[in-house]
Amino acid sequence: MINVLYIGDISARPGREMTLSVLPELRKKHHVDLVIAGIENLAHGKGATVDTVREIMAGGVDFMTGGNHIWRRPDFEELLGGDFPVIRSINYPPDVPGRGFQVIDLGKKGKVLIALVQGRTGINDPVTHDMLRPLDSMLSDQDVDGLSAVIIEIHAEATSEKIATGLYLDGRVSAVVGTHTHVPTADERILPKGTGFITDIGMVGTMNSSLWVKAEIVQQQIKYPYAPAYEVEEKGKRRFDAVLLEIDGPRSCTRITRVNKVA
Ligand SMILES: [Fe+2]
Ligand SMILES: [Fe+2]
Repeated sequence: MINVLYIGDISARPGREMTLSVLPELRKKHHVDLVIAGIENLAHGKGATVDTVREIMAGGVDFMTGGNHIWRRPDFEELLGGDFPVIRSINYPPDVPGRGFQVIDLGKKGKVLIALVQGRTGINDPVTHDMLRPLDSMLSDQDVDGLSAVIIEIHAEATSEKIATGLYLDGRVSAVVGTHTHVPTADERILPKGTGFITDIGMVGTMNSSLWVKAEIVQQQIKYPYAPAYEVEEKGKRRFDAVLLEIDGPRSCTRITRVNKVA
């Protein structure tokens, strides 16, 4: 059995601080073998830097995924092209830097494949393929039975795309988890053929913000064709959204549990 804690998009300093404050206890309490987190909003909401990635790795994050905002800072080259355990979506054109999946070795617990795929509805980003064909070809190239777990993250706006992708992969991977909206959904479940699923994990950051942005700024943006640049909302309570996955094989999950904290 492998216990994975999968954390929603860690957003700016409030998100990093909240992650570092809750992670040690969660790791211990749930005997977590692997912590995965979304980092597209890690550095001041926009992309990630090498320093902020090092900060959360020192705090207990083992593996990271970069959604559509990972390109917002030049550090993406080093984060995606080097030795950092960071992936980008698999359905970008082949000349986009980085890799869309990675197999990591947990020693006695075996090898875990993690892949990220991006939806196309409502995200203005040059992904070139649908979500399903690249995942099909990746899975057919891998020795799935030789792995302990296969986890797919779908970073997408539309719940319909996420649910359809989850059901498409049911019984073929351990878990399919959604991200990008920053709003946790209450539909976590084991799908009929054994795959763990949730439409959206949520986020880590300031709770009463517009995803991580000061709400006044987004309100200005709604009302006027001119609006100030986005600023991080630093004030107020913070939330921490994650799911715990108990995985017993490369095509099944025994339990998926939401972890939602406010502090
Ligand atoms: Fe995000
Ligand atoms: Fe995103």
